[in-house]
Amino acid sequence: MKCTLMHRTVSAAEIDIDSDSGFISKILKVSAPEHLPVGVADPKGNLSRAALNQWWTDRAIPASRSGLRDALDILGIVDSKQLLMRCYGLSLSDQYWIKPDGSDLLWEKINFFNNSFSEDIGDILFETKPKSSILDFNSPDSTSDGNLKKRWKIINGKRYLIKDGSDPFFQQPFNEVIASEIMDRLRIAHIPYTVTSIDGKPYSLCEDFITSKTELIPAWRIIQTKKKRNETSTWQHFVDCCTELGIPGTVEFLDRMIVLDYLIANEDRHYNNFGALRNAETLEWLGMAPIYDSGSSLGYNKVARRIAAGDDIICKPFKKHHEEQLKLAWDLSWIDYDRLSDVREMITGILSSEIAAETIDENRIEAIIQFVEARIRTLQQITHAHHSDRSASDDDLTENIAAAY
Ligand SMILES: Nc1ncnc2c1ncn2[C@@H]1O[C@H](COP(=O)(O)OP(=O)(O)OP(=O)(O)O)[C@@H](O)[C@H]1O
Ligand SMILES: [Mg+2]
Repeated sequence: MKCTLMHRTVSAAEIDIDSDSGFISKILKVSAPEHLPVGVADPKGNLSRAALNQWWTDRAIPASRSGLRDALDILGIVDSKQLLMRCYGLSLSDQYWIKPDGSDLLWEKINFFNNSFSEDIGDILFETKPKSSILDFNSPDSTSDGNLKKRWKIINGKRYLIKDGSDPFFQQPFNEVIASEIMDRLRIAHIPYTVTSIDGKPYSLCEDFITSKTELIPAWRIIQTKKKRNETSTWQHFVDCCTELGIPGTVEFLDRMIVLDYLIANEDRHYNNFGALRNAETLEWLGMAPIYDSGSSLGYNKVARRIAAGDDIICKPFKKHHEEQLKLAWDLSWIDYDRLSDVREMITGILSSEIAAETIDENRIEAIIQFVEARIRTLQQITHAHHSDRSASDDDLTENIAAAY
């Protein structure tokens, strides 16, 4: 099927998509190279079909998404890529879409930021019966990333992402709130999260931080813009890519993200869990996006005894160990430890709610508090003698794998 790859109202390229497989089979013409997705051109500036297909495939719900198999069975579809065309590839995180040849669709009329969307895909992903027997596939849930069950909903005119936790503790929604509170205290730009209960189960809720004029470009796309040299560290490569693109404030942002992730022992800060914001009309880079998706942390999948032990903690995206990753931080002098003096009360307040009590007991709460208090103490000691070290080492991570639940 011949289509135009659109960026808001701009035609970026003419492409052919194989309707059966959902793959981009041909690139027919590039009309606005500057509007192509970030990182899909080869070093000579030519649009690579393989890279464009990777970007396109990444737009579909990942095969590893919790509950996807059952949802696709209900929809009678074998691959989540087949859902992409049914919503024109539109998303609530960026401004790309696909316009079939000969259609008179207008971005103003179909984008999900200003127009409503169907709840049917979200209902099926959440194992709820859709309201109508004839399904409407026009939904941003078909282009949402990440492995946890999630859906978009319009509440009082605003778009919210509702996200599940995982068995057995369903701790991630609460962790998002704890991380938000820590970032409030440390004045780190972040997306605020709350916990909501649906049928007695906890979910995190956060508002869409993208508008009809902006977009989130994940770090994964940013690191595709340059070839990484073997001797360059993963951190340096990311910073170099940002510098070349002209993204402001990268090092300061990374310092803050690395510190937060140390404090909460975040185990899933892969390259799609942070990124930069740009103006999708002017293509001006606005800076790094406020921090989102910090839920896979605080021993979310470990028993209380293992949280207290504090070992076997996975670290991403730059180093394999948080202690090594902390050495990448340029400056730690901004951390105001006094503002963290109430973490015990803060964490107790969040984890003692009726809904949390279903899966999180007092033992577990105490283990989490003691763990965070110990991390704060250690960080404070490190801050005194901190010398940053941004060289490549055996501890550098080379892959980008999201946690599966
Ligand atoms: N508030 C938001 N506004 C706009 N886009 C968002 C927002 N929150 C998340 N996203 C986008 O949705 C994607 C999935 O969300 P999120 O990372 O929170 O899910 P996840 O299932 O926890 O992911 P993972 O597999 O990394 O655990 C993000 O990678 C980002 O592209
Ligand atoms: Mg994520």
